[in-house]
Amino acid sequence: MQILAIETSCDETSVALVEGRGGLKNPRFKVLKNIVSSQIEVHRPFGGVVPMLAKREHLHNLPKIWKALAKQKPTFDAIAVTVGPGLPPALWAGIEFAKDLAKKLKKPLIGANHMEGHLYSTWLSLKPKQKIAFPAVALVVSGGHTILLAMQSLTKWKKLGETRDDAAGEAFDKVARLIGLPYPGGPEIEKLAKKGNPKAVNFPRPMLREKNYDFSFSGLKTAVLYHVRDNPKTSKKDLAASFQQAVLDVLVGKTTRAAGDYKAKTILLSGGVSANKALRAALEKAAAARGRKFSVPDFEFNTDNAAMIAAAAYIQKLRKKKLRFAAQPNLNL
Ligand code: KG4
Ligand code: ZN
Repeated sequence: MQILAIETSCDETSVALVEGRGGLKNPRFKVLKNIVSSQIEVHRPFGGVVPMLAKREHLHNLPKIWKALAKQKPTFDAIAVTVGPGLPPALWAGIEFAKDLAKKLKKPLIGANHMEGHLYSTWLSLKPKQKIAFPAVALVVSGGHTILLAMQSLTKWKKLGETRDDAAGEAFDKVARLIGLPYPGGPEIEKLAKKGNPKAVNFPRPMLREKNYDFSFSGLKTAVLYHVRDNPKTSKKDLAASFQQAVLDVLVGKTTRAAGDYKAKTILLSGGVSANKALRAALEKAAAARGRKFSVPDFEFNTDNAAMIAAAAYIQKLRKKKLRFAAQPNLNL
């Protein structure tokens, strides 16, 4: 089945055309188009995403992207759109556009969960013969969420833990702002961290030793704030490297422990923060040390994109699950 998917939950307007095949035991995807129009430049002066500006940009971008795509006469069986979680004005822009298009083209609509999109984005990058072995442990790290799952199968999972305050990506963004780097902070911190010493400052590793799978990053952000105030001479490179190392230690430490406790054959990593090469390398190494497989989507599918929404919609369709067709800002896994 071919799906036209639309993603507008935050600051990327994205439209994708994806072919989904196979059943729940082995779904396969072919990404035919994955167009992402980033609004970073629009939000940068504000240091973060402004919801009404995001909506305005989505309303402007969607018809433009669709017009360009329509010229290529795409064929598809259904239209999928993110219904949550996300910023309500941004979500509504996509939902209304999808509704109008579905009516005009007489196609069925599928409402999709953005977090399932991140979770299933790994399947977009599988090699032809590659199959994810279960049980698996999945770490989903984005700007809004930090979630650890124990997966028995593609569709059966238990949420082991999540963040109690800031998400990992949010911590990257806030610390970046604190040391004078532009939005979004994740890629900026990663760039600087490459040139710094990760051992320069021994920042706290929040909740690493606690016997649960929850995370907390707001104290770490405050620790950076106090360090900057009291040690103005520490270089930005060292701050970035030391902060990044603290986040990585916690993410990798907790995920590795969960993988052991749940006898995971595979560790999955996804969400915007999975674009971080140091995190990918550290988790891959930790997985390999215990003979576990490691899977992360190609870079194209880490940050928000509509191809992953098509994957979530396809799997949802196979499960015969239906989501309410309205913006659901707090939808979760
Ligand atoms: O998944 P995503 O595109 O949007 C949400 O669903 O939130 O994730 C965006 C987040 C931002 O906080 C951004 O700073 C972070 O992912 N991010 C990174 C990197 N690239 C993006 N964090 C660390 N290192 C990166 N290379
Ligand atoms: Zn996202």
